Amino acid sequence: MTKIEALPPERRPSHVAIIMDGNGRWARKRLLPRSAGHAAGISAVRRVVAAAREIGLQYVTLYAFSTENWRRPKTEIAFLMGLLRQYFDSDLKQLKADNVRVRIIGGRDGLEKDIAGLVADAQDMTAANTGLHLSFAFNYGGREEIVAAARNLARQVRDGKLDADAIDCTMFASSLQTAGIPDPDLLIRTSGEHRLSNFLLWQSAYAEFVFIDTLWPDFSGEDLHKALAEYAGRDRRFGGVDSASDTPPRPLRAGAD
Ligand code: FPP
Repeated sequence: MTKIEALPPERRPSHVAIIMDGNGRWARKRLLPRSAGHAAGISAVRRVVAAAREIGLQYVTLYAFSTENWRRPKTEIAFLMGLLRQYFDSDLKQLKADNVRVRIIGGRDGLEKDIAGLVADAQDMTAANTGLHLSFAFNYGGREEIVAAARNLARQVRDGKLDADAIDCTMFASSLQTAGIPDPDLLIRTSGEHRLSNFLLWQSAYAEFVFIDTLWPDFSGEDLHKALAEYAGRDRRFGGVDSASDTPPRPLRAGAD
């Protein structure tokens, strides 16, 4: 597998975020219960972590459970909670040994006590690790995250601790749960769906999107590789113009390019 160093520096993503979608359809195709798709999804998580480490990615964020996923049947929710428990029970030691730093973004409210405890342990046990920074978005919603940050800043203004005029994008970003994590360069969604589904709304402002048809349980290191190759071929302008371009800039539309 090609190492990230094989790509020119400006073509290397530092942070890859993934919407792991298609577990249910994967199971249905095999006449299995949806839970079997989620269980198979854990193997794909392991594959992607292994591939990310091998390639040398610095940050990976996986969308594992959204604030909207509470609308699913109780049995499915319980199964997904159980999978998180199982995953940390079985993999945390190895992640620690592999120098992976684990972080969980998302609300702690509504999580069972033992899960909240596991999440805290996973973060504490790996806090000193310096390799792959692996975040799980669990009970996560981008809008909720933005509202919480705004509320927190508003309280500081109310209490006279912060000048409202001092609030800028940098300060706002450091009030989000992803504080300290760079914005995703590449956002991958599996299963052929083309939506953001409340994932990293603020952080994805300039992410490159790659949508692939593979259902999440089938996601392989090779799929990650293909997405990185596609990313490497993209021209990121962040609202400006290509530095090599000698053509005059096109008129800006709202929101830029
Ligand atoms: C979306 O597929 C997937 C989820 C809501 C759960 C993602 C969870 C995993 C991959 C396993 C859990 C991982 C950890 C670390 C706990 P879907 O069920 O919406 O699929 P469908 O659109 O085909 O129905």
